[in-house]
Amino acid sequence: MKKVTYIDEVKLENKRILLRVDYNVSLNQDKSKIADDERISHSLPTIKILLPKNKIILVSHLDRPKTRDPKLSLKIVVERLKKYLPGVKITLINDFLTEKKDIFEKQKNGEILVLENIRFYPGEKTNDPEFAKKLADLADVYVNDGFAVSHRADASIVGVATLLPSYGGTSLKREILMIGNAIRNPKRPLVTIIGGAKISTKINLISKLIELADNVLLGGGLANVFFRAERFPIGSSICEYEMVLQARKLLFLASQKETKIELPTDVIIGKPDDTTNGGHVVRVGEKIPKDMSILDIGPETKARFGAIIAKAKTIIWNGPVGLFENPSYRQGTDFIYYSIAHNQGVTSIVGGGDTLAAINNKEYLGKITHISTGGGAMLEFIEKGTLVGIEALKK
Ligand code: 3PG
Repeated sequence: MKKVTYIDEVKLENKRILLRVDYNVSLNQDKSKIADDERISHSLPTIKILLPKNKIILVSHLDRPKTRDPKLSLKIVVERLKKYLPGVKITLINDFLTEKKDIFEKQKNGEILVLENIRFYPGEKTNDPEFAKKLADLADVYVNDGFAVSHRADASIVGVATLLPSYGGTSLKREILMIGNAIRNPKRPLVTIIGGAKISTKINLISKLIELADNVLLGGGLANVFFRAERFPIGSSICEYEMVLQARKLLFLASQKETKIELPTDVIIGKPDDTTNGGHVVRVGEKIPKDMSILDIGPETKARFGAIIAKAKTIIWNGPVGLFENPSYRQGTDFIYYSIAHNQGVTSIVGGGDTLAAINNKEYLGKITHISTGGGAMLEFIEKGTLVGIEALKK
């Protein structure tokens, strides 16, 4: 049977290694600073294993540039990488297609070349075979350590992997093992908490979880669609109304199974940009004034969700349960985080860009078993059990 070989299972020496990472880090609003560099720090173990005896050529995208956009240069990432790897020669290559061959030929073991944002090249997203070949020609070996982008069938994820001997990095390995075990072989009860603004990106995930999990706790903007499915008022809350029918189907599906979908029974309502009044509690089903929105879970819901989380043996959490960016409405999300962190002995997996932004810099982070770097990739991996980029590594 074909399988992925990881870099800690082989001896790689004196090779030119094309290492695909996901340095699509979150930036601040004017894109001048890195807001969260978790994805860079997660790539360090693989770099440190490979670096001393090999030449590394790093490949990553940043954001979704339409053309060469200087604001989305990997320069900012290279600066941060230099801080993590003091003493290592790290050079950004502006355009590997036109760069003099010299720079690649003169690279020594222990040195890193970083290709400029790979999405500056149209061939990346179209997985153009000629472009993939040009990338592959730079190296002897390909390593994928970018779990968070492995759901994309791009040239640097899928194309190159078919052209070179290919391996998985240690961060990719850990993501596959941790999330894979949690969905294939979980200690029960398996409790999942799904939040975030939109249900459209998570509908397939929730239907999969109805098959896998014991409890599916829902919060955040996506719960509003379920409230509408039950015909409860939601005032001016965000809601993807076109998904209401789908949500009704999911509620029906869950009623035919052992899985319990848990919706909030009380919520905090207020105005999204009001940072002073803190909102007030209403029971779900009660009237909500037209100019008010549901912005967090209420105290009764916290108690219910907290009791379920306390009994869980495996937890998967993706998506905040309120408008955490406004301190008035982040208590529900904080409560979920602390409940998970205080369940001793649970295997907990937390992922998704918003979730990580919500818990960033918190105490007890070390009590979370696995913090996934993946947003969409984590959801798709749970749904399908694999990703195109993982399949491409199987030999
Ligand atoms: C992510 O942040 O989820 C990955 O880097 C993939 O980015 P993309 O959604 O722009 O392909």
